[in-house]
Amino acid sequence: MDAQIAVLGGDGIGPEVTGEAVKVLQAVAQRFGHRLVFRYGLIGWAAVDGEGAALPESTIELCRASAAILLGAVGLPARDGSLPPSERPEVKALLALRRGLYANLRPVLLHPALAARCPLKAEVIAGGIDMLIVRELNGGLYYGQPKGRTGDRAVDSMVYTVAEVERIAVVAFEAARLRRKQVCSVDKANVLATSQLWREVMINVARRYPDVELRHQYVDACAMQIVQNPRQFDVLVTENTFGDILSDEAAVLAGSLGMLPSASLGEGVTPLFEPVHGSAPDIAGQGKADPTATVLSVAMLLDHLGQGDAAAQVEAAVSADLATRAGTRSTSQVGDALAAAVSS
Ligand SMILES: NC(=O)c1ccc[n+]([C@@H]2O[C@H](COP(=O)([O-])OP(=O)(O)OC[C@H]3O[C@@H](n4cnc5c(N)ncnc54)[C@H](O)[C@@H]3O)[C@@H](O)[C@H]2O)c1
Repeated sequence: MDAQIAVLGGDGIGPEVTGEAVKVLQAVAQRFGHRLVFRYGLIGWAAVDGEGAALPESTIELCRASAAILLGAVGLPARDGSLPPSERPEVKALLALRRGLYANLRPVLLHPALAARCPLKAEVIAGGIDMLIVRELNGGLYYGQPKGRTGDRAVDSMVYTVAEVERIAVVAFEAARLRRKQVCSVDKANVLATSQLWREVMINVARRYPDVELRHQYVDACAMQIVQNPRQFDVLVTENTFGDILSDEAAVLAGSLGMLPSASLGEGVTPLFEPVHGSAPDIAGQGKADPTATVLSVAMLLDHLGQGDAAAQVEAAVSADLATRAGTRSTSQVGDALAAAVSS
């Protein structure tokens, strides 16, 4: 494979964790004979300082010209007061970068070595947790019109079209085919018109996937089920706001924020791969950040670019590393160990 990867480190621990992930990607690329070119772009407060914008035009161009984007994180709470919320990097840069990327994929895997860090009882997690949350990322309440405030009244509109639900359903069913062939669609069809449309489209798309089992759950029940019986979930697909909340709830199950990767995919738009965690300014620059989530994001990147064997090599290296990890290791020690493991 020949490919250009846009690397956007961003703020806080972002450049530290992407640095280690690139190290691992370079090592696995060498092993599999891939020729990868890494180009670095500014995003976040570093870009505000350097170029006067949280997502400068030069970074947008770099992303357009690349096969994939590897992002660290953006945001520095200490500087929030200097810009209105809508101008801060988390809104200005991330929303722009994610435009057109309608499918957000978040695998939640509890590694046996981290079971003690999972807040659920041992009997609830016995047998392991392995689910994939597929969140619709470009529709719903966050984008629907009308939206805004007039005097003492404010409105947000939850809007979905058949086409928007169809394309995310296809992502969920295709993903399920590669897993345990079960899709749980989460909605609020007893109350919301958008959810009734969502459910109708899910049922229609399911007809094209007779080998995959589809069931439905109301979002309120699902929020309980995630902590009561997480093993029941294989692929969980849901709309933007529900997905935002449920994926953060499910993230806790993996035992550490430093473990969770994500991918955001669309058609005709450069795919984005990033850890679920933020910029962790409390530990930035101290070599304490765990790069595992970003390294696992690299595995998702490789898989998306059709390099399943290389992706599996990275995942196996992470599993082995977690199983044998002892004591406290620095960010670069973890990166070095994983790079060595994928090379051997
Ligand atoms: N996608 C993104 O860029 C993104 C996502 C979430 C938050 N943020 C931003 O990040 C900033 C900090 O937010 P926060 O503190 O709420 O969330 P956070 O995820 O940055 O940190 C939460 C806690 O987890 C720890 N942590 C996070 N990642 C870790 C890692 N890889 N290794 C070890 N420990 C880790 C942190 O030290 C902190 O104690 C804010 O400005 C927020 O807006 C950005």
